[in-house]
Amino acid sequence: MSFDLVIKNGTVVTADAVFWADIGIQGESIAAIGQELNAENQINAAGKLVVPGAVDIHVHFQMPIGDFISSDDFFSGTRAAALGGTTTIVDFVEPDEDESMLAALSKRRAEADPRVVIDYGLHMTIGPTEIGKLGEVQAVNEAGCGSFKMYMAYGLRLDDGQLLQALEAVRQVNGLPVVHAENWDVICMLIEQNLAQGNRTPHWHPRSRPARFEGEAVGRLIELADYVGTRVHVFHVTCDEAVQAIARARRNGKPVTGETCPQYLLLTQDVYDAPGVRGAWPVCSPPIRGQEAQDALWRALSEGNLQVVTTDHCPFTSADKATGLGDFSQIPGGVPSVESRLAAVYSCGVRTGRLTLNQWVDTCCSAPAELAGFTRKGRILPGYDADLVIFDPDQQKTLSTETLHENVDWTPYEGIELVGWPEMTISRGEIVVKGGQFSGREGRGRFVARRFD
Ligand code: URP
Ligand code: ZN
Ligand code: ZN
Repeated sequence: MSFDLVIKNGTVVTADAVFWADIGIQGESIAAIGQELNAENQINAAGKLVVPGAVDIHVHFQMPIGDFISSDDFFSGTRAAALGGTTTIVDFVEPDEDESMLAALSKRRAEADPRVVIDYGLHMTIGPTEIGKLGEVQAVNEAGCGSFKMYMAYGLRLDDGQLLQALEAVRQVNGLPVVHAENWDVICMLIEQNLAQGNRTPHWHPRSRPARFEGEAVGRLIELADYVGTRVHVFHVTCDEAVQAIARARRNGKPVTGETCPQYLLLTQDVYDAPGVRGAWPVCSPPIRGQEAQDALWRALSEGNLQVVTTDHCPFTSADKATGLGDFSQIPGGVPSVESRLAAVYSCGVRTGRLTLNQWVDTCCSAPAELAGFTRKGRILPGYDADLVIFDPDQQKTLSTETLHENVDWTPYEGIELVGWPEMTISRGEIVVKGGQFSGREGRGRFVARRFD
């Protein structure tokens, strides 16, 4: 067998195994995994881990929120992702009130297609105005947008009746509902009470969104999904209360999955007490919580009660964040993580003994690919896309705006020292990052259609 590229002598890590092998690539696909594979074009991966390209199924590039727009666009965001070893992302479509879902999907693709450097998919958002457009769900699914986002918070939130309707429409096409679960009524009241008492700084952000009501909202969502008879994926889980609701459902055989994100695994809520705009930077929802919650999330990943790590990457500049300094509830929510996820979970999860190598690959690569319906991504197997990362387990990296490439003037991880970083990222057989340098091309990424029927 002849190959266009062979990765030699690496330690291959998959979700199930660790072994020494060469990987032969033909064109855009993995063609063989074995010993003594050779080609003119070879990469020596001795001493390095060879893992599937990471898959991040929750990012928000150039996402409008009120007067703001998240600061990474489809080029800068996917380039940062590739530099961190991610080869596939899933972003969102948010239709305008008077716009059809299909028109919004075409518009979003027109924004992304010419700019992405890695492959991508899109979740379709079902907000209150989309309840009148549910007849389109089948066509949206057929257009390759088989997962549907629903919010239980913010302006886009669905009330429980609308959520029931949306879940039912998605079930009918065997789609995947992905949900932001919080108790919006309680949050609004606590914000109102806090502001009335003069509690205006970011310190009050987590204190207006108590963990028990995240747990309550996740439990309510699971009840609705169970009533309708659909599976459901819970976005950005931050606390044990929500983990327990998911774990209970799974013990009872319900098709419920959950994810968490690096900001909840690496940081604790004292970040909101930093002075000035630094306390506003990490405002995201649900909020970052205390050490006990963080420990519970690592435990949930290791015990399989959460299956996936995503980023919810959604950066806003310092200037944008500063506009809410006099009223924490007006700070645009979201943090950047898209570049550091794979290495952060390795360094803070595997090296500390909280996760195995296989769990690292599963939660960052294989499980998210499978959950989101990517049939050729997230695994090292013949016939799969040659999306691969050569990961140096000993490379030291200080996270900082100086060393990261996300388009934002701060990072919540400033000064955190990681051990382990991607040395090379390969996307469909093409080297797009080598030695920390981006070598890909704007627009080379492709939309990947996903449907589950
Ligand atoms: O605060 C956050 N998480 N912003 C991004 C949008 C979302 O809720 O996922
Ligand atoms: Zn959310
Ligand atoms: Zn999000």
